[in-house]
Order: sequence, then structure tokens, then C-alpha cells
Amino acid sequence: NATEGLPVYTAGQELAQGIEGIFGKKVDLDVDLATAGAGKSNGKGKGNGKGKGKGNNGHGHDRDTTATVGTVAAYVDSNPGAAAAGIPELADDGFYLRVSRGNVLILGQNERGALYGAFHYLSLLAQGNASDYTLASNPDAPIRWVNQWDNMQDGGTHGSVERGYGGDSIFFWDGKVRDDLTRAGLYARLLASIGVNAVVVNNVNADPKTLTPENMDGLARIANAFRPYGVQLGVSLNFASPQTLGGLDSFDPLDERVVEWWRDITDALYERIPDMAGYLVKASSEGQPGPLTYNRTLADGANLFARALKPHGGRVLFRAFVYDHTSLDEDKDWKADRAKAAVEYFDGLDGKFEDNVVIQIKYGPIDFQVREPASPLFSRLVRTASALELQITQEYLGQQAHLVYLAPMWKEILDFDFRVDGRPSRTADILNGKRFGRRRAGGYAGVANVGTNTTWLGSHLAMSNLYAFGRLAWDPSSEPESVLRDWIRLTFGDDPKVLDVITRMSMASWPAYENYSGNLGIQTLTDILLGHYGPNPASQDGNPWGQWTRADADSIGMDRTVWNGTGFSGQYPPEVAARFERIETTPDELLLWFHHVPYTHVLKSGKTVIQHFYDAHYEGSAVAQTFPRLWETLRGRVDDERFEHVLFRLEYQAGHALVWRDSINNFYFNKSGIPDARGRVGHH
Ligand code: GCU
Repeated sequence: NATEGLPVYTAGQELAQGIEGIFGKKVDLDVDLATAGAGKSNGKGKGNGKGKGKGNNGHGHDRDTTATVGTVAAYVDSNPGAAAAGIPELADDGFYLRVSRGNVLILGQNERGALYGAFHYLSLLAQGNASDYTLASNPDAPIRWVNQWDNMQDGGTHGSVERGYGGDSIFFWDGKVRDDLTRAGLYARLLASIGVNAVVVNNVNADPKTLTPENMDGLARIANAFRPYGVQLGVSLNFASPQTLGGLDSFDPLDERVVEWWRDITDALYERIPDMAGYLVKASSEGQPGPLTYNRTLADGANLFARALKPHGGRVLFRAFVYDHTSLDEDKDWKADRAKAAVEYFDGLDGKFEDNVVIQIKYGPIDFQVREPASPLFSRLVRTASALELQITQEYLGQQAHLVYLAPMWKEILDFDFRVDGRPSRTADILNGKRFGRRRAGGYAGVANVGTNTTWLGSHLAMSNLYAFGRLAWDPSSEPESVLRDWIRLTFGDDPKVLDVITRMSMASWPAYENYSGNLGIQTLTDILLGHYGPNPASQDGNPWGQWTRADADSIGMDRTVWNGTGFSGQYPPEVAARFERIETTPDELLLWFHHVPYTHVLKSGKTVIQHFYDAHYEGSAVAQTFPRLWETLRGRVDDERFEHVLFRLEYQAGHALVWRDSINNFYFNKSGIPDARGRVGHH
């Protein structure tokens, strides 16, 4: 069968296997494939015989169940009468589902859409929905990528994952692509089930040797493992490769030899991987080479790759995470502020990018903190497509040893209204191109960093974040709690008690973590120099990375106002800028992000800043104490292996939350000398 290895064929297999799995027995299922490719003259081909066989169809009815899965075009081609049958216009990757008396019709706008439709049908069935229905679903934006920060090698033979907490790289080992890519295929399957359509497989801090001919062959093998699931491969580039790998004496983006070098490399990749998604580029940031080395602009840098990719239909995701960590001096300069860097570096470049450039912007202006205002850069790229970079791996957020369900935080970013020109301008509507009427829509990039651990992320419960990323990238209007409940049912079954406990813990987890790590917009008060884990508020000042709190004996917070501070608040459109410029109109939760105030400053809540610190750290850690007790009530309702694995982590989290509480509270007590009104902090 010539369609084998393509997404529609996969969809047929998944349906047969999924239905059997859900009902726990063979069902009488007949899968028809409707594909534009080979395998039939009438657009129909039998689904490999898989899932066939007489037996009960699982619905208790005594009849055959048929599933037809394919592309709209192929289906209409072979069923001319179907054209008028109410199949709506679909977007790229979208799907149409019609379930009627147990028979199911699944049509994708493209092959990938057909696979997404099959997974969607299975997910509803697995959650107990066996009713008749008709629905159409389209993704909000075309870019729904995950990034893996995988190293090809780390010292020895290791292929480690930067900021990865789930084991070694599933792609690389000993400087090469692994021979056995079984897990790469399983990863693609996992991602396709949530609508993710590409994976950038190597670290943004990219190794030039990714592009040796041997490794390009290896990348092609990864792409082959992904392809049956409609997942495309992307590659992170090291900007200096023409010099370090190519032997040129320059990597100047405007040097014709450099241009040619990248064109050749790109052609060589596409020869091996004709459907490659494109490139991801971190340039001129944190010591990485880039166009600024040659006094060229970031647009010059991005366009270099865009032009090489264009004939092949590829895109370059160019990161906005650009700042110079060697020039920030907290002591000498009250106006120094890393948060301003992205907007400053991209100033004047909107409109100068090729149309296959997408600027990939971290959700906040600093770096994946527990709370940040949405990056003002989203509101400034009007003609240039942008993608929102979220971090699924919990770098600053407990590294998978703490339960922190992130969708509620992401949702606040998606719903953030920039009020460009005084009109509603939500982040999500900027990403999908609607707000600025852009033809080129952007989308979503999630730093996933799964590894060889059988749980993928190193923790069972952390997988709700990966799931939610896919769901929100597909439909940013989704509600975090209902997404979570779907995930729980699909992962742990439909026991209402299990559903209730995991929902309660997860929904309480981000507010709790914020309370015991860093509140009022002060950032996650974690160790900034060593691994970004555990409390270390002292490291949050005097570091070269520009993640500062400016805490002294009397006062705390970054003054980012225009009138007296770094001027960052002025990077927002006027209405929003005016709101953050004044303490009175800045919400408490972002007070210390925008303002420098005495510890005795009284919040809108009526508490002083310091008392809020003390109380919030007690409250947040108290919530974490409830997690193991809640989880205990599920003993016997969740299989032992997962039960024990999760319990161990929740007990650890409960303990570590106390460490956080006492470290932070004692630190600020020692700094300010102001006692806790409730007598808990300091010496008794
Ligand atoms: C963070 C992270 C780094 C990463 C960087 C990036 O600073 O700690 O490991 O390289 O972000 O996103 O480029």
C-alpha cells in the first residue's frame, strides 16, 4: 500500500488500534482510507485490514461499524454526491467529524488534519462520548511547534537536554543522531495527538556540527520517524557555522560567500528532508554569535536564512530573546534593564523581514518567570509575524519536582490586551494575524525538553502542561480547567474522585508556587547562577544577567517607569503604559515588576509589602502541604506505580515549599529588620 507511512494511513491504524483499546476487545471496524495518493483508483483503499474481524462493536449494537478517514478533496473526488453534503470550508490542518449511528466520517483539509480528526474522535470516545455529532475544528494559527533544547553531546557520550528534567536526548548520542529512533516516532505520535506539527530537535545554543553531512543524514532519519504523524522537523542553527564548520573567514550575513554557504546547506538539507519545517535561530544573545558581530541588524540576520529557505517553502523562527549580558551594570546605572532589550533591538525593523520570518518571543520580557507582564514586543510587530514562546519544561518553576500547572499563567498572557491604537489587541489575536490584518500568521512554540525517561518529562503530572500547550495553541480560547479535566480523564480514567483531586491540586498549584517562590511581580526568587532551582534571593541582585530586584534595607522592586526608572513601561501602547506608569493603577501582582517601593508601602489589599511577603509564603507553602494528603485519598484508585511516583514528588514539594518559605521570609526579615506582624518570622 503506497500510502503507508503517510498521516492518513496512520490515522486508519490509530483508529483501529484506539477503538480496540478503548473497548478492550476487537471491534468490527472497517476503515476506508480516502487519500489523494496511490492505493486505489476511486480514492478509497482498505485500511490494511487492521481492526477488522467479527465481534461486538462495543456499542452493544449488532452491526458493522465503519470509519472513513481521508482528505476532503479525495473524499469528494470519490463520492461526488458528498460535495454538497455540508462539509464546511476548513483551514490548513483542520478537520471535519461526523458520527452517526456508530459510523464515523473523518475528513481533514490535508492528511495531517485527517489524523488530528482521528485523534479527536478517539479522545471523545475515550472520555465516554459515544453519541452522534458533527463538528469541524480548525487551528487558530499554523505554527504549533515544540522546541527541544537537545545537545548532540555533553562532555562524554551524553546527549543531554539543556533545562531538561526527563533524562537524556531521545535524538542524539555521542555527537550523532541515535541509531534507534523508536522514541522519536512515539514522540511524534504524542505530539500529533495534540495538534503539534513540528519539532525543532536541537538546542537553540546550537552546535555547528549539527550540519555535517553525516548529521544531516541523521536528521533525515529523525524526519522519517516523524513523518507518519505529520510532524515536520526543524533545526536550530549556530550563526557562526560558515566559519566554524565551513572554514570561511567570516559569518557576516551580507558576505556573498556566507549567503552561498547557507544556501548550499539549506539545499542539502531539503534534498534529504523535502518537507523540513525550517530553522530556529538564537543570535547575538548570551554569547551566541549573530549579525551584531558585524554591525548588521537582526533583520539582516533573519533574512539570510529566510532567503535560503524560501524556494523550499520553509520558515525561519528568529528569536527575540536577544540581550547583552556583558553590558548590564546594576550598581552604576539605575536605568539599566534587560527587560527593555528585545524592543530596543527590534526597533525600526518591523516591515524589514522577509515574509517567511516569524519572530519567536518569550511570553515575558525577562525569562520564563512565575509572573511577567506580556512582552511589549508583541504589540510592536505589526507587519511581521510573531510566535509566542512558552516553556513547558519547568526551568524556573520547580523543574518537574514541583507540580505547577502552567495553563492558567499562559492564558493570562494570551488574553493580555495591549490596546494598540486604543482598540482590543489580545496577544492571541496578534499571533493569529487577525488584529493587524496580517496575511502571514504566526503561532506558538513550546520549549518541551522531553527526554528518555518513560514519563517523558520526568513527572507524570507535568504532562498536563504539554497537553495544555497543544490545546491552547490549537484554540487559545480554551479554558485551562476544562483542558486539564480532559487530560486527567484521558490519562487516569473517569473516576470522579481522581478527576476532582488532580483538578484541585493542579488549579491551586501556580498560585501556590507564585506565593512561596516570588510574589508581587518580584520574579521567581530562585538561584540565578546555579541551575535556577531552589530559593536564593541574594543571587537576584549583583548578577550580570540583569534579573534584579534592587532590594536593600528599606525598599525593593525594579523602577521601570518612564518618569523615574528604566523606561520599560513606555514600551507598551499608551493606555497600558499609563496604567503601569503609576503605582495606583498597577495591579498588586505586578507592583514590584514596575515600581521600587519601601517594604512598608501599603498595597491595594491593605497589607504592607513585607507583610504580604510573609503571609504569601506561609499561604503558598500551606497549600503545597495539602497536596500529598489529597493525593493519598487516591490510593487504590490510581495504579501503584504512578501513585507512588507522584506521591514521592508531592511529599518532596511539600517539604521544599517550607524551605522556600523560610529562606525567603528570613532573607527579607534580615534585610529589612521588620518583624512579621504575626510573629512567625525571625527569632522568637
Ligand atoms: C534561559 C535558559 C538558557 C537558554 C536561554 C534561551 O536563559 O536558562 O538555558 O539557553 O534561556 O532561551 O536561549
